[in-house]
Formats: sequence, C-alpha cells, structure tokens
Amino acid sequence: MTGRITGISGPTVSADAAGLKLYERVFVGHAMLTGEVVRIEKNRSVIQVYENTRGLAVSEPVEGTGTPLTVRLGPGILSGIFDGLQRPLQTLRDESGPFIKTAKALNPLDFSRQWAFHRLIKEGDTLHPGDIIGYVREGPFQHTILCPPHVQGKLSWVADKDIRLDSPVGALEDGTEIPGYHDWPVRVRRPFRKKRSPSERLVTGQRVIDFLFPIARGGTAIMPGGFGTGKTILDQSIAKFADVDIVVYVGCGERGNEIAELIEEFELLKDPWTNRTLMERTILCVNTSNMPVAAREASIYTAVSMAEYYRDMGLHVLMLADSISRWAEALREISSSLEELPGEEGYPTYLASRLSGFLERAGVVESGGGKAGSLSMILSVSPPGGDFTEPVTQSCLRTSGAFLMLDTALAHRRHFPAINWFQSFSLYGSELLEQEREMVPLEWEEARSRCKDILQKEEGLREVAEIVGVEGLQDPDRLLMHVAETIRLRFLSQNAYTEDAFSAPERTLSIIRGILDFYDEASKRLKEGIPLEELLTGKGLRGEGIER
Ligand SMILES: Nc1ncnc2c1ncn2[C@@H]1O[C@H](COP(=O)(O)OP(=O)(O)O)[C@@H](O)[C@H]1O
Ligand SMILES: [Mg+2]
Repeated sequence: MTGRITGISGPTVSADAAGLKLYERVFVGHAMLTGEVVRIEKNRSVIQVYENTRGLAVSEPVEGTGTPLTVRLGPGILSGIFDGLQRPLQTLRDESGPFIKTAKALNPLDFSRQWAFHRLIKEGDTLHPGDIIGYVREGPFQHTILCPPHVQGKLSWVADKDIRLDSPVGALEDGTEIPGYHDWPVRVRRPFRKKRSPSERLVTGQRVIDFLFPIARGGTAIMPGGFGTGKTILDQSIAKFADVDIVVYVGCGERGNEIAELIEEFELLKDPWTNRTLMERTILCVNTSNMPVAAREASIYTAVSMAEYYRDMGLHVLMLADSISRWAEALREISSSLEELPGEEGYPTYLASRLSGFLERAGVVESGGGKAGSLSMILSVSPPGGDFTEPVTQSCLRTSGAFLMLDTALAHRRHFPAINWFQSFSLYGSELLEQEREMVPLEWEEARSRCKDILQKEEGLREVAEIVGVEGLQDPDRLLMHVAETIRLRFLSQNAYTEDAFSAPERTLSIIRGILDFYDEASKRLKEGIPLEELLTGKGLRGEGIER
C-alpha cells in the first residue's frame, strides 16, 4: 500500500495512502523512516514518525507494511544495546557515520552468527504455536526456539546441529518454513497458559526494600521521587544486584551520559549471584533525552516484549524503566500533536488505562512450553516539582504492588536510598510470608513490625525533644531514639558507592537482629540501674553490641 505525504508537522505526518490499518507500521519518505498509523480519516491517514523528520518533504512516498510495529525475538538479544525501535546501537554507531540509518536497514539480530542447536522434536511430530522446537546456548541460558504464533502442522524436517537465523530451523509438511526467530507486535502482550499469583520474593540487595517493602518476583513497584532523590542510582543498583536471571533496563528520556556510564560499569562488574559480568545478563533499551521523543513512547513496549520473550523460556526477568514519566510526556506530546482532547495536566484521557495495561504485562506465568517464568517491573516516576498528586504517579499507584516513595528531605540529609518508611508500602508482604517463614522462622515479620514501631515512636519523640531537648527525655526514650538512629544510619541507609551497596538476605537479617538484640539487652540493663551513658558506649553490656 503506497501513497504520498500530504502534510508534515514535527513528527506527525499525514498521507493520502488508502487502505492503511490503524497501528500499521509504515515507512515514510525516501529515507524510509519508521512510523505508525495513529489515526485514519476519510481521505487521509495520520502517521506518528519515530525518527527525526527533518528534511522530509511533501509528496515523498509512504509505504504500508501490512504489519504492526514489531520486535524481533530470537537468540542474540541478550547483552544487546538497542534503541526504542530495537535498532542495535553498536551497529548504528559503527556503520552509519554521521547519519543514522533508518530502522528498515538494520536487523536487531545477527543473521551471520552460528548457533549450536539441540532439537527436542523430530520430523513427523505435530507442532503448535509456542511449542519448543529445541534450544541454543545463549550465555548461561538455554535459549528455547519456540514455534512462532500462527504456525501449526506436522514437521517434515528439523535442523539437528548448527543453525543460522537467515535460514529456517525446520519446515512443515505443507512447506511452511519455520524461522529461528519471529517478529512480535510490541503492543500485544505475549500469550501464556496460566497466570499465577506472585509467591517468591525478589531479593534486590537493598535492605529497606527487602526488609520493609518487599517486592515479589512477577510483581510491580513504582519509585516516585523528585529531582536528585536517587531514582537512577537506585534503579541501577537494583539492576546490578537483583536476584533474577535477566534484567531489561530501559533508559527512557533521561540523560545519555548516565547510560554510557552504566554500560561501562556493567561490562566490568560481576553479578553477585553468578559471578558473570553484569552485561551477560542485561538487555539495554535506551531512548535518552537527546533521541527522538516519539520513539520513547514505543520503547517501553519494545522492551517489555523482549522481557516477555525470555520469561516464556521459564526465566526470571526484571524490567526497570527510568523513568516512566518521560514515557508519559512522550505520550502527551503525541496526543497533543493529534489534537486529542486533553485530560488532567494535558495528558491524554487514556493515560491511566495505557499505564495499567502496560503494568499488567508483569506477572508469574506458565507459558505455552509449560515453563513457569516471571516478569517483574520496577518503574521510576519523576513527578514535576516532587508533587505526588500528579496524574502519572497517581495512575501508577493504582495498579502497582509496591510504592517506594523517594523523599527529598531524606535525600537532602544524604540518607540513601531515600525511601520514606512511613509513606511507602508493599502489598506483597503477606504473600511472601510463607516462604520467609521457611527461610528463617518468623523472624522477618517480627523484626519488621518492631522496626516500624521503633521508627514510628522516634517520630513522636523527636517533636517532644524539639521542645524539651534530648536531655529532657526519659532514659528509655533516649535509648529508643538512639536505636532508631542506628536503624536509620546503619540499616536503612546503603551507600551505592561502597561494598555495602549490596546486602544479601542473611546480612540484612543479621544487622537488624544485632540492633534489636542490643535494644533488648540495653532496656534490661537500664531497668537494672546501669546508667544510660554506659549503655550507649557499649560498656554496660554483656552480650555483643551492634555490628560496628
Ligand atoms: N544509594 C546512594 N548512595 C550514595 N549516594 C547516592 C545514592 N543514591 C543517590 N545518591 C546521590 O544522589 C545523587 C542523585 O541521584 P540520582 O539517582 O541521579 O537522582 P535522580 O535520578 O532521582 O535525579 C547521586 O549523584 C548521588 O550522589
Ligand atoms: Mg535520574
């Protein structure tokens, strides 16, 4: 289906091509820029172009592809660095010189690479969509080659040793060839047999999260915070240390140099769980502030489709996006260029439904191949002016399972991660409880409620102390304030630039246990008449004090 450009307004192009479908991918102009049909009227179609439209002219050709915007799924995605349209950035840089090639010309997967293939089915077997044909080794994982959607029938042959993606891995009796990869429409969630409720904890290595506001594998968490509250550092720390198989990191509209640093670091640093370099388990999808805004809107869908693909292999995948607010801003920009009726603060009225539709792609699922994998999401939100009542934070809040509020006041005091312990919450606590109980009988929950209680009491005492001075407080209260301070400084804070950046569950528990044991012991001594000063310096205690 081809037509001509009739009008151009920034990234929005109208064309007279008849027969285009809504959300069909189109190539625009001689440069063949990638675009998506976002509106169809009687005599014209409106196209959202995901690349820079500078230099584009009226009456250049517009070509429909007959398919929606897709992501290419197959071996070789892992360790990849892509832009929002899944173009490999390395190739973009190496081959294109001063001009960036268009999406059409770039294959996200390396078709010339050879993969050792182990087949799991033989000729004569009947194949259904989603069935496992065999696997290749991709880094540390068995990368299963799945039967693509809409392909079904009896196998006439299947490869049994090395494969390359430019030729099929097998064929059906009716002649249909089966490629080792498939293209998946990014806006459609991948199918699964069954969704299970999240029941395993996702260890992040951040004590305040793992202990106070746990996240489940397959769960969702949002981290709203104003400028400089540590969203990026926290996102990156979790990307480094989380106990998952694969991390998909989306740099969405934030500074490009942060991503450059991340890549450098990830190529050197080791994953604490497996001792392999972090890049070996990471997929990066970047659309930084200096790249086209419209592609940013697509980038989270590109990323989540890749994440779902690995989840379908039975792996635990974590997707992090920094920040979803920049995605929402791109959505707003597109919406306003289409002259849609604006909703709250200029965001389109469908912001909330888009966001919840996106968050629903997280979960623990059994895929067609019968494997259970999980896709967890942690999204940072950057509300303008740190105002949490704005639409993006509020929409995320309604659908996410954990809310980790980053506090400007804590960040000013250099308390990092600046997660506010009064206003944050996690709905996963009770679901994970059973499993925790097996790990360490009852301790987590008991320690958690005591810890929250101490912090709560400290807050009340601090107001009193402001009036009467700390010296004016009763000794048990002064002891409590001392313990609360220790919890804040030694337990809840973690400096991302030291060894303490990662805290294994055993260590997390041992630190808090040390603090609570000290509190119990000191309270007892205090009652026996030992002066508070002696207890605070550790002299009046028999047992071990706090880890110092
Ligand atoms: N866990 C941490 N440990 C030490 N410093 C931190 C930590 N988190 C944030 N910071 C400090 O705060 C600064 C801002 O953090 P950043 O993640 O860039 O904020 P945001 O992305 O919210 O704007 C960092 O440059 C760093 O100095
Ligand atoms: Mg940031």
